[in-house]
Amino acid sequence: MTVATAQNITTEITFADCEQMDARDPLRHFRAEFELPEDTIYLNGNSLGAMPARALAQARNTVIDQWGKDLIRSWNTHGWFQMAETLGDRLAPLIGADAGEVVLTDSTGINLFKVLAAALKLQAERAPEKTRIVMEGSNFPTDNYTAQGLVELLGSKHEIVFAEEEEIARAIDERVAVVCLTQVHYKSGRVLDMQAITEKAHNCGALAIWDLCHSAGAMPVALNDCAADFAVGCTYKYLNCGPGSPGFIFAAKRHQGQTQQPLTGWWGHAAPFAFERDYRPAADIRQMLSGTQPIVSLGLCEVGLDIATRADLQQVQQKSRALGDLFIRLLDEQCAEFGFEVISPRDASRRGSQVAVAHPEGYAIMQALIARNIVGDFRAPDVMRFGFSALYVSYLDVWNTVQALRHIMRDELWQNPVYQQRHAVT
Ligand SMILES: Cc1ncc(COP(=O)(O)O)c(C=O)c1O
Repeated sequence: MTVATAQNITTEITFADCEQMDARDPLRHFRAEFELPEDTIYLNGNSLGAMPARALAQARNTVIDQWGKDLIRSWNTHGWFQMAETLGDRLAPLIGADAGEVVLTDSTGINLFKVLAAALKLQAERAPEKTRIVMEGSNFPTDNYTAQGLVELLGSKHEIVFAEEEEIARAIDERVAVVCLTQVHYKSGRVLDMQAITEKAHNCGALAIWDLCHSAGAMPVALNDCAADFAVGCTYKYLNCGPGSPGFIFAAKRHQGQTQQPLTGWWGHAAPFAFERDYRPAADIRQMLSGTQPIVSLGLCEVGLDIATRADLQQVQQKSRALGDLFIRLLDEQCAEFGFEVISPRDASRRGSQVAVAHPEGYAIMQALIARNIVGDFRAPDVMRFGFSALYVSYLDVWNTVQALRHIMRDELWQNPVYQQRHAVT
């Protein structure tokens, strides 16, 4: 039986086609695991994932039952002290890592600071002549800002070389110490070839660090198959762990005990409760920790990771690509005259889980959509982002979004001055 998708329907796509796609969606039962308002189409899981229905019960459990009743004993009795590693082990298979290679802790930016410093330290010992760090100039700014801050702090000879997608391979040569890139671009959703880039880096004697913010939970990731050295990412997007939930660090086993991240707090010490005067690094992944972990937030991660680890990531990727294909196709069929430009790759195999659309009035158009409870977001100067989280977005959601877009454009509803007002968060 052929399943209808935007790819194999040759006539114009209809509402009934979308209903049929939903009926055959093997992931449709996951929608009930999220608490989303009935009248809302949520297309912003690429920024903040939806709330799992179990989140409130989990928060109550951590706050009332554990903290409230067992107080400080909870560090031992409820596994609080090991939580960063326990949850890291839960996350590991989603990103192609092994147990003992991942911890959940701190923010992505802080974690990037730690692993970049650790990688540069390794290289300074093995190949001090290598001074370059290859990064993508158009990457999410915090990665670049963090690297700039570290280079300035080191007061060293290191130099950041910014390259865009097509220039990356050429920028990696014998002078490069570290290649530090994001797999899925935050704005366009374009996917970089982790395998090829990591291989090129290694062939030149460089180390490879990957930011997986827009990959983790959205698609299969193969860190160890690609022999990646370090990785970081967040859990509040496709892993649905909650606003500001801790990020993660991956350090390949072969590097653990060989280098050291510089935020050398007591949680990364070999014996934290020995309270020694001098820092002695843990020889395993715990060295990537710095201080006391945010237990309430980590508790919520358990719920998000439980859902993510029960979903088949191949199916998740397949569906988010199909949703994106449907969106692009409907935009072409129903909104051709309104000047939208799809800036994400049209080839789904080169795209993550979102579609970015440029339009000079993108901000106001997105506000008009949000006013109709269709929630995406906007990235300056002119990009609307539509995130297709496969666990809770339906094909009919995509249909209804494009109908709303058409209505907003045809009747010029975006011209309402209310939609021109810029909010702090766009
Ligand atoms: C690629 C990438 N890196 C990092 C971040 C954010 O990092 P942090 O959680 O430290 O604010 C984002 C946020 O969207 C991102 O897209």
